[in-house]
Order: sequence, then structure tokens, then C-alpha cells
Amino acid sequence: MRTSRKKISPFRNKKVFLFLSAMITALFVVVIVAVINIQSNRERKVEAEALYHDKSQPVEERVNDLLSRMTVDEKIGQIALVEKNSLLFSSDIVRFNLGALLSGGGGGPDSNEPEAWKKMITNFQDSANSSRLAIPLLYGVDAVHGNANVLGATIFPHAIGLGASGDEDLVRRVGVITAEEMSATGANWNFSPTVDVVQDSRWGRTYETFGSDTERVSELATAYLEGLQSSAIVTTAKHYLGTGAMVWGTSTNPDFKIDQGEITIDEATLRSVHLPPFVSAIRAGVGSIMVGHATWNGVELVANHELLTDLIKDELGFDGFVVSDWYGIYEIPGSKYHALVTAINAGLDMVMLPYNYRLFTMEMRRAINSGDISMERLDDAVRRILRVKFAAGLFDQEPPSDPSLNEFGSSEHRLVAREAVRKSLVILRDKQQTLPLSKTLSQIVVAGGAADNLGRQSGGWTIEWQGIDGNWILGTTILQGIKNAVSSQTKVDYRQAGDFSPEVESADMGIVVVGETPYAEGWGDNEHPTLSDDDLQAINNVKAISKKIVVIIVSGRPLDISAYVDDWDAVIAAWLPGSEGEGVADVLFGSYPFTGTLPVVWPL
Ligand code: BGC
Ligand code: BGC
Repeated sequence: MRTSRKKISPFRNKKVFLFLSAMITALFVVVIVAVINIQSNRERKVEAEALYHDKSQPVEERVNDLLSRMTVDEKIGQIALVEKNSLLFSSDIVRFNLGALLSGGGGGPDSNEPEAWKKMITNFQDSANSSRLAIPLLYGVDAVHGNANVLGATIFPHAIGLGASGDEDLVRRVGVITAEEMSATGANWNFSPTVDVVQDSRWGRTYETFGSDTERVSELATAYLEGLQSSAIVTTAKHYLGTGAMVWGTSTNPDFKIDQGEITIDEATLRSVHLPPFVSAIRAGVGSIMVGHATWNGVELVANHELLTDLIKDELGFDGFVVSDWYGIYEIPGSKYHALVTAINAGLDMVMLPYNYRLFTMEMRRAINSGDISMERLDDAVRRILRVKFAAGLFDQEPPSDPSLNEFGSSEHRLVAREAVRKSLVILRDKQQTLPLSKTLSQIVVAGGAADNLGRQSGGWTIEWQGIDGNWILGTTILQGIKNAVSSQTKVDYRQAGDFSPEVESADMGIVVVGETPYAEGWGDNEHPTLSDDDLQAINNVKAISKKIVVIIVSGRPLDISAYVDDWDAVIAAWLPGSEGEGVADVLFGSYPFTGTLPVVWPL
């Protein structure tokens, strides 16, 4: 008998072999992944039970515990503050262990609604939360006059107007509401208040200050930051130190004149005029101090050890963290590496990185490895940042059960903004008691580039960094406020250019609302701030047909009107009132008294 053995083809053999090896490899991968998972879950479990998560422990204990668990890379990431538009992948939050993110002026989500902000920031926080140590992010914004980057926010007068109000209680309430409207969007850190004491109002940042009087700046900025902090927002006193004293014509930025310029005052003046608001902010528990873009006696502020360490930390006992401004550290001459090492060694704790955070990480690692930056210095910086995060309750916040945005831009909030507008108005001139106006005049004409323009009313840092011109935001224009205030018999006509004739031949009162178009920072440096030709023309047109004329100036600083002011019956400084223009009419028509006083000198 022939027995036949079935022959297995070599081809089939190979197939089986491949199949088996694929299976074994897959099994191997699964096992490895499972082991890693078990390992990291175990690790995460250990971290989740770690002392630093226990809110009954004192802040310092929690800081020490967390710090002792951190790797060098985690520490380096903790001192980075990355502009969200420069974030290449959101996975970089975990990969680079980032500690903080920011939205620059206008840097919101595509749909600039509060819900979209909330979603965006929550996603970033979720990423941070999935990292080994789950350290929450600080998310910083410039909510400098309300959370005004966001559509629908309550927009308060800029600081210069609050400075004119001189009302600490009011300013504290403005802080509270700003904090509420920030929290609704998930932001937990405000780059505010500005505590600069302005000396030259040609500076494009004059309106961001509470004025030129040290005491007024100290009191109001402190009240404002107390308001913010009462609603768990981390605050920033900026721009340290002496940036209100920069000298015209010294800017290092070719597009600017004074912003980012030189400070040349002596130390005694720096201490007596510019330091007190920082001292007061430190006493009130300010979380961070932002270093200005400027040089003092030829040295970049951010490179100055005497200011960043000796004065603020050692002498004044500041235990929060010092943060740089925008591209600030790289203004130190020399290589980027040298700039970084110099700034951190001078006492900078957190670096604002609008662009290349990967380079920053690499260079920090190099500096630590080489000893150019000591581990003690890095630990000190991280410790300060963590302290602020713990103190603000960032580690202990439960996800809100009802992420209600109902209060965002609510009418209650807007009433406080309207009150702030009322209290910020200053009478510059009032011939023969023209003010207040009667609500029952029969014919009023209104004109001027700022009469019906919410963008101009609000100024810079509104929706966009440089602000927006026109009616794109929610609010009430000054014109609408006037219409709402007068009697039903009063006829109010409006033409921006004031070209009423021949339709209107004569009016009892002409109200012309004039002023500046929005700007921010050095783009607003202006050697001779005054009225535009269009506004002057509107004033002249209105004057020609009106029995009396009131000029309302919407501006971030004093404008030179000395050549014309004698021709007008009354002149009011309204600063940059924000979204609630009705506050102007409240005072103009006598429902409330004028109480504001000048926060800066206004030569007439
Ligand atoms: C400004 C700061 C601001 C920061 C973030 C800087 O250029 O000088 O005042 O907080 O940008 O927007
Ligand atoms: C940002 C601002 C920042 C400025 C600095 C802008 O692009 O939006 O927040 O202050 O750059 O130059």
C-alpha cells in the first residue's frame, strides 16, 4: 500500500508563520501597553492620593509635596506662559508640561462667544488634568475694562475714567463683576490692574492707568484687585517698575515714540512715585507682578536683579511670582539663550512666550544642565507659581455643576458700568451754568464722530487688541442715551457731520461728541493729541445753528482744545466710558450730579 503524505506547500507554511508572528507581536504590544497602563494608573493613583491634593493641608505643605514630585521637565513647563495662538498641538500641554496659557488682546476662539471661550479653556484644562501630576493651568487674559475681549461682555470705563471717579467702593464692585464675567468663560488670571503712574499723557497707554497721582493709583488699583480676588481671580500688578515715567522719543520700537522706551529717573523718585501702588498691591495679596518693556538707566527692567529680586522679593516680601511681558525677555541684548538666563537669574519666575515655546524648553534644559541657572532658582520660581495656584483654589475646584453664563453681560452688571460712567465724567468748562441740561428742551441736535459709536466709546482692548470702530458690540451709545433721557416732546436730531441745515435752522442745544479713535500701546503714542478736522467741522456746523453748545470728549487722555474751548458753552471729559452710554446722559440731564475729578492734568 502506498501511503501518501499530504505535502504542505512552502507557501502555506510561510503564511502560517507570518500569521503566528503577527499574533505574537500583537500580544506582546498589548501586554506592554497594559503594563505601562497599570504602571501609570498606579502612579496616577498614588499622585491622586498625594498630600498636595488634600485641601485641608496648609498651602506651603502642599507646595512642598508637589514640588518634591516634579521632574526637571515638569518644572520647566510650569514656568512657561504660552500664547494660545502659538500652541502647535493641544497635546503639547502635556508633552511640555505647560503651566499657563494666555489669550493676547483679541486672542479668543473663532466664535467669540462666552460659551466658546468656556469650551476652549475647559479643553485646555482637561489636557493639563490628564498629565501625570494634573497641575491646573493658569489662563490669563487682559480683562482690563471688563472681560472685554468677549462679545456680549459688560464693558466698563477704562481705568482713567475709574481714576476720575475716585470711588474705591465702585471700583471694587467693578472688579467683582469683571471676575464673574471672567469665571464664566473659564479664565482664572487677569493681567490687571495697571498700576503705572503716568507722567506723560502722550503715551498710548495713559487710559490704562488710574492717573498720575500715586495715592489715587494705589487706592483704586488695590480696591479693584481686591474685587477680582474676592471671586478667585489671580491678579497682576503691572508694569513693574516706573513705566509711567518713560521719556518721549526714546522708544526702542521704531513704530512707537514713548512706549517701550527709557526710564531715566533716579531711584528715590522711582521709589516715591512709582513703587507705592506695588507695595499696596503686595499687601493686598496680588498674585503676580508683570515686568514692563522698558530700560531703567540703560538696563532692561527684566534683566535687573536689584528690582526683580532685591527690592520686590527680599525687601517687600512679595511671595507671588514675577512674569515677563509678551516678548519681553528677548529684548535683552545678545543671544536668546543669554537673554533667558539673564532674566531668570535676575528673578523672573514665569516667561510669557507669544511664539517659540519649544526653543524656550530646550534652552531652559540646557541652562539647568550646564548650571547657568541653578536648580534652586528654578525651584524658587516654581514654588511661587504653585503657591499662587493653590492659594487661588485652582486645585480644589469642582467642575461647576451648572456652567451658567446667565450673568454674563447681565443688566445688573450693566447698571454698575452705567454708574461707573456717571461717576467718571469731569466738567472741564461750564460757562454760565449751562450744565445740567433740561430734559424738556424742544430741539436738540447731536453730532460728532463718537456720538453713535460703541467702538470709540470703548477704546482699545475691546474685542481686538487695538479696539474696533463702529457699533459691533452690545451696549448703548451716547446718542441713544440722550434720546432715552429727554422728554417725549423733545426733538433730537443726529447727523455725525453736524450738517443739519437747511433741515434744522435753529436748535436750543447742540451736543457734539468728539474724540479719539481706538488704539492700544505704542500705536497710540501721539505727540499732539487733539481733535480731528472732521470733529472740529462738526462742532462748527452745530455751533452755527445752536443757541448753546456742549462738547463731550471721548478720549483716553487729555486732548489739546485750548485754541477752541472759549467758543463752547460747556465741555465734559467722558474718557472711554465703555458699553453703557446712558451713564453720560444721566449726568448731562441732571438725574445725577457731576462728581468726577481730573486724574491727570488737562491744560486748557
Ligand atoms: C502688554 C501687557 C499685556 C500682555 C498680554 C503686552 O504686550 O504690554 O500689558 O498684558 O501683552 O496681552
Ligand atoms: C497681542 C497683545 C499684545 C501685543 C504686544 C498683540 O498681538 O494681541 O496682547 O500686547 O501683541 O505687542
